Amino acid sequence: MAVTDGGGGPGSARATGAPRRRLLIAVVSVAAALAALLLSWNVMFPYAVGERQPLPFSHQVHAAARQISCLFCHDGADRSPVAGIPEVAKCMLCHRVEITGFPPIRELRGYYERGEPIPWVRVYRLPDFVYFNHEVHLAAAVDCGRCHGDVRAMDRILSPQVIDMGFCVDCHRANGATVDCLACHR
Ligand code: HEC
Ligand code: HEC
Ligand code: HEC
Ligand code: HEC
Ligand code: HEC
Repeated sequence: MAVTDGGGGPGSARATGAPRRRLLIAVVSVAAALAALLLSWNVMFPYAVGERQPLPFSHQVHAAARQISCLFCHDGADRSPVAGIPEVAKCMLCHRVEITGFPPIRELRGYYERGEPIPWVRVYRLPDFVYFNHEVHLAAAVDCGRCHGDVRAMDRILSPQVIDMGFCVDCHRANGATVDCLACHR
């Protein structure tokens, strides 16, 4: 609001007499105010890329700056088909003491105390008629980054490529892995 007043004030003062010009200046000031608002919004909420998630969790902060291993949080990946999203209790191992006054961490504690899972929005999702398995890929030394990109550089998870049948089959061909329809469509 303060931004709109600051932008509109000097503009309308200069436009005395010419209604059209005044209108133009008003439009330009409003546009400038909106741009300023948008900019400060991005500064205040730097996570506004990728899916809108219930908490502003950053992989860059956790997996790069704090060097937490992918498998510490996604501990199904090397032993089951599903990588798994960590439970709130796992977050609380650190956030009982880390930045406890930060509003999103107070929200995190709220989920924990209510025994409620965080409703994270899924980014990667294959259709039900496709079978995928993390464990076999990790056993074959296929790195997370081959499919998920450079997650350590991401605040919000963004898929670097479309995961379609061609994506799977091309790599299988290149690596002598199976292209049998029934391996992926059971
Ligand atoms: C091994 C310790 C550890 C675990 C586990 C952990 N965090 Fe953090 N987290 C931190 C630290 C340390 C910071 C502060 C980073 C800073 O200020 O530089 C942080 C920062 C955050 C922030 C502030 C925004 C951001 O991402 O920087 C949020 C939100 C957050 N964590 C959510 C979570 C959630 C949700 C989980 C569980 C999925 C989790 N954390 C698990 C250590 C951890
Ligand atoms: C501190 C815990 C933590 C660590 C460490 C961590 N993740 Fe995550 N990861 C999460 C949480 C929580 C989500 C769900 C929220 C989101 O999508 O950001 C998630 C989501 C994801 C997703 C998207 C899943 C989907 O389909 O929605 C991928 C892919 C992923 N992580 C890969 C990685 C990789 C690769 C690493 C290591 C470089 C890693 N994660 C390290 C907690 C973690
Ligand atoms: C060969 C490609 C590939 C590799 C390598 C891979 N993923 Fe995935 N990942 C996928 C696909 C495809 C999905 C969606 C699966 C579905 O919808 O059934 C997925 C889903 C996920 C999810 C969300 C669903 C779940 O399984 O819990 C997380 C989290 C995740 N991956 C993390 C990781 C991590 C961490 C690594 C490395 C340790 C990794 N992935 C390695 C392809 C891969
Ligand atoms: C970056 C390369 C790569 C990508 C991308 C990839 N795979 Fe694989 N996949 C492999 C390798 C390597 C193996 C292991 C081959 C072996 O051990 O014989 C494998 C094995 C598998 C297996 C086990 C096959 C069996 O022998 O039973 C399935 C199922 C599978 N992949 C499904 C998928 C699906 C579905 C996708 C796409 C969402 C995909 N893969 C993407 C490299 C890849
Ligand atoms: C390595 C894994 C893999 C193999 C092998 C594979 N598919 Fe697929 N297939 C997929 C994935 C992943 C999708 C989902 C594509 C999407 O969501 O866009 C898919 C989708 C399809 C679809 C739906 C239409 C489409 O293109 O999206 C058909 C039909 C299909 N596959 C048939 C086959 C047949 C027939 C074979 C054997 C010649 C085969 N697939 C082998 C992974 C595989």
